[in-house]
Amino acid sequence: MNVTAPDWKREYQTPHGLTVHPASPVVGARITGVDLARPLSDGVFKDILDAWFQYLVVVFPGQTLDEDQMVAFAERFGPLNKSANPRTHHNKKNPAIMLISNIREDGKLIGAHPDGEMHFHTDQCHQEKPCSATMLYGMEIPSRGGDTCFANAYYAYETLPEALRRRIDGRRAMNVYDYNHADTRGGTFDIREGVPHASHPVVRTHPVTGRKALYVNRLMTGFIEGMPRDESEELLHQLFIHQERPEYVYAHKWTPGDLVIWDNRCLLHARTDFDASERRLLRRVTVLGEKPV
Ligand code: SIN
Repeated sequence: MNVTAPDWKREYQTPHGLTVHPASPVVGARITGVDLARPLSDGVFKDILDAWFQYLVVVFPGQTLDEDQMVAFAERFGPLNKSANPRTHHNKKNPAIMLISNIREDGKLIGAHPDGEMHFHTDQCHQEKPCSATMLYGMEIPSRGGDTCFANAYYAYETLPEALRRRIDGRRAMNVYDYNHADTRGGTFDIREGVPHASHPVVRTHPVTGRKALYVNRLMTGFIEGMPRDESEELLHQLFIHQERPEYVYAHKWTPGDLVIWDNRCLLHARTDFDASERRLLRRVTVLGEKPV
């Protein structure tokens, strides 16, 4: 697929009247001129998809969306994951919806991923078929911090020094959902019983754009397979430093009413710290994805 926008560093009008405002020189755009609460024509949705494949994460500011409207828009991207965190956060009417929040009601958290900083990661990389897209809708936002940062994984791959590229050629890595490792990489990433994990290629090819992306991340990639652990850790460390370089990153500062959708197949995301005494509430939906190749 050809994903070249008219001038990807400059604001432009789409064929169906939306305006795309690049958010940084390398990743991310804001899209204005569309009300996502209303059904979208195929033409308008194609403009959105084209911008999404080009910028990897798009932000629609100033939206007012109830749960049904958010789900209807998300479904344009594909079938949704309806078993999002079923144990603690099940939404009976809209099972695809999960809350990201630090708010407690009767002493119980109402959502997942409540507090603090999160390292760079890609959603559900510990599953055999990770979600293709994640959509977040900002509802209550702290006065400072809690930004969601996005790193372009195509650039990370394309700019990798040749020596590093040779070392990862044809390799696979084990991705592990173990929050004992959320703060540091001090542990061994042993796969204990019941800990979700999945092996994926270190470099994956995007099924639509055909571009290659570096598909490892600091939060959940445990080790590169078929390599001594200390060598794997040293190599991963170099890859993390490279892919998280500030010049590959766009930090999104939330405003209530922002609807953000990103492509997990070519983009990493992280969260900056925020004051735990301030409320943060976002609604999340994920779109089912394919096995990375
Ligand atoms: C996530 O990584 O899924 C949460 C992102 C955020 O809270 O900004």
